[in-house]
Amino acid sequence: MSKYLVVFLCTLASGLAFPQDLMLEPVAEPGDGKHWALIVAGSRGWFNYRHQADACHAYQIMKKHGIPDERIVVMMYDDIANNRENPTPGIVINRPGGDDVYKGVPKDYTGMDVTPENFLNVLQGNEEAMKNKGSGKVIKSGKNDRVFVNFVDHGATGLVAFPSGLLHAKDLNQAIKSMYEAKKYAQMVFYIEACESGSMFENLLAKDINVFATTASNAKESSYACYFDKKRRTYLGDVYSVKWMEDSDMENLNTETLQKQFKIVKKETNTSHVMEYGDMAISSEPVADFQSGEDFVPFHKEKLPPVELNAVPSEEVPLAILYHSLEDATSESHKESILQQIRDIQDLHESVKTTVKHITALTTNDHVKTEKLISVRHTLLSHDCYMPAVDAFNDKCFNLSENDYALRHLYVLVNLCEERYSSSTIIEAIQKTCA
Ligand SMILES: *[C@@H]1O[C@H](CO)[C@@H](O)[C@H](O)[C@H]1NC(C)=O
Ligand SMILES: *[C@@H]1O[C@H](CO)[C@@H](O)[C@H](O)[C@H]1NC(C)=O
Repeated sequence: MSKYLVVFLCTLASGLAFPQDLMLEPVAEPGDGKHWALIVAGSRGWFNYRHQADACHAYQIMKKHGIPDERIVVMMYDDIANNRENPTPGIVINRPGGDDVYKGVPKDYTGMDVTPENFLNVLQGNEEAMKNKGSGKVIKSGKNDRVFVNFVDHGATGLVAFPSGLLHAKDLNQAIKSMYEAKKYAQMVFYIEACESGSMFENLLAKDINVFATTASNAKESSYACYFDKKRRTYLGDVYSVKWMEDSDMENLNTETLQKQFKIVKKETNTSHVMEYGDMAISSEPVADFQSGEDFVPFHKEKLPPVELNAVPSEEVPLAILYHSLEDATSESHKESILQQIRDIQDLHESVKTTVKHITALTTNDHVKTEKLISVRHTLLSHDCYMPAVDAFNDKCFNLSENDYALRHLYVLVNLCEERYSSSTIIEAIQKTCA
């Protein structure tokens, strides 16, 4: 213990960096380091309103609890507040009758700067790579600091989508590992809202690298949108996201632990299985260690009245919005135009199913096997087969940044990889099917 302290004090006193391998790490104590937050919404378009609304709300929570803007980075497409479909220009809400969550949100990275590459560079504090892009802000965290990452978007097995491009689970976990090795954080917490989001960490996130993560769903199910708004004709939030944020808005974050917040959110999110991964010891720390500034003083909070969720699975949102519009349509011509849009979406769904089945048949060359592989769900382990197959499917068949329904069918590519078909065989089948 004393040797520990001496080494630490010497380093401080001399102001010189001690050789890394000789230096024993002092355990970070609350108040030691700085708190950083990275908030990302990975979709665009009015029917995806809810993702950016969630992200803006997350920013307001960090801000209100004392994390300064210099240490919060927000990435979002930013096409909602001033969208021509917004009946309240400049205002974004995250719950029926809720407050504006858009005001003051920093526009660090917007539009086509919201990419997986930029996200990984921002997270890893790679200032050089972000030069001349957006605000250039990155998470410049050091070994005593705590980092909170909130990602909201569409996802599928082993990936989350960005407005253009996909972030693979393996790449995210590699980035986390190299941050750990480079001592870029004392502790890091991820909250991820996406379909099948458990697959971003399941069998990937080590328990001994000081990272704790919770996800909206397990590795094999959808996450759910909620709060349909008649005036705006879109969903205002996602169940897991609004549950953790409404809890953070209500509780004393200095006394509530991450584990308690997880339990509350898990209980209230009855549409999917909220999961936790990584280092469970971190979950006994107060939420304020991640969602508040270092010297945060609790303030009085009001309990929000409950409102109806009206939850729907993420991939059903475009159709659900059209059905709501159909109910309100008065003229026959308007009704017919909505019905046509519904039929177009249903055709697209059929085409996704047929395409995936065709790829499977071409890969297996076996009718019985094809039927089986369409109906089971293997756990993804063969990332090196799956990633290039997904990238080919994204390139040749359906743009996964814009097609949540196609994301729901990537499990078939998982099955093919897990049944030991090679990625080159699968990719060939993809190229033939979608030529
Ligand atoms: C979830 O809970 C809400 C109210 O708390 C209830 O209305 C809804 O039916 C439940 N949904 C499911 C899928 O159990
Ligand atoms: C998918 O669509 C986005 C947005 O339109 C575009 O930026 C991206 O390049 C497309 N991806 C592919 C693989 O075509």
